[in-house]
Amino acid sequence: MSQPAPLDPSPKLDLSPLSVPDLLCTSAMTTRDIERVFAVARTLKAGRTVHTDVLRHKRLAMIFEKDSLRTRFTFDIGMQDLGGSAVFMDHRDARLGSRESVKDVAKNLERWVHGIVARTFKHKVLEELAMHTGIPVINGLSDFVHPCQALSDFFTLSEKWGSVKGRTLTYVGDGNNTCHALIHTAVKLGTNIRVCSPEGYEPNARVVNEAMRVAQETGTEVTILNDPDAAADGADAIYTDVWASMGQEDEIEERNGIFAAYQVDEEMMARAKQGALFMHCLPAHRGWEVTQEVMDGPQSVVYDIAENRLHVQKAVLALLIR
Ligand code: CP
Repeated sequence: MSQPAPLDPSPKLDLSPLSVPDLLCTSAMTTRDIERVFAVARTLKAGRTVHTDVLRHKRLAMIFEKDSLRTRFTFDIGMQDLGGSAVFMDHRDARLGSRESVKDVAKNLERWVHGIVARTFKHKVLEELAMHTGIPVINGLSDFVHPCQALSDFFTLSEKWGSVKGRTLTYVGDGNNTCHALIHTAVKLGTNIRVCSPEGYEPNARVVNEAMRVAQETGTEVTILNDPDAAADGADAIYTDVWASMGQEDEIEERNGIFAAYQVDEEMMARAKQGALFMHCLPAHRGWEVTQEVMDGPQSVVYDIAENRLHVQKAVLALLIR
């Protein structure tokens, strides 16, 4: 049996700037930007920790108004892997802008660090941070979108399928921030996207209309529907998320009733193509939006996606931080 080729200890990375200075929303990225993130992520993933020169002595501020496992760990570890460091600020008790203006937070941080990752309730706080600083601001999740998640989701699909173009991804559940980011990213990459939600919980109409405009250019289909059976029929992957996001805890009981028919179970997976993938951004609530069997079954790629948060975000850091 032939031996695998040894890893190149320093494969070349194309780290020329993206067309955007920040990562607030994948809708602002070009298709080429997204493909470049994926290309760098692939190289970093193959080389593991051999790139400690990329962000040597660079510092990242991480400000989180909400809980996190994946985003927090992967950005912190990602900076370490690339030779830099991260400083975490827990902002769960006081939203950004409450002690001092968002502008002043931005103006101070840019004197000490080379980039900011923020998880905020309000998307406009991220926009304000970006407006007042010359260092890149990365959206670690806002009430509007979750771009790092969607990039990791599509990177995972590209690993599994080779190409995501012409495939169909069905999202079942709340038309939330994760859903918006999937819609934005799908149409850029030529993936057909179906979103199936209960009436009144559909994605933001502005996101859908903008996506439909981009979809015409990329030859992609965007379908919004309320019938889970129709949404699952023939899909290449089925994605779901929690029915009540962080900040909506007082609606959990009501939402559990409204969303019950939208649970991803084996019957729904059987409507999709044979071998269709099951996706979830995590954390998941087994027995609610997804059954135990599907979550832990052979079609589930949830932990591959979680792993890829690290590789994709390292690529984002390497491409944005100067
Ligand atoms: N999916 C995701 O963003 O996970 P965390 O909330 O744990 O960061």
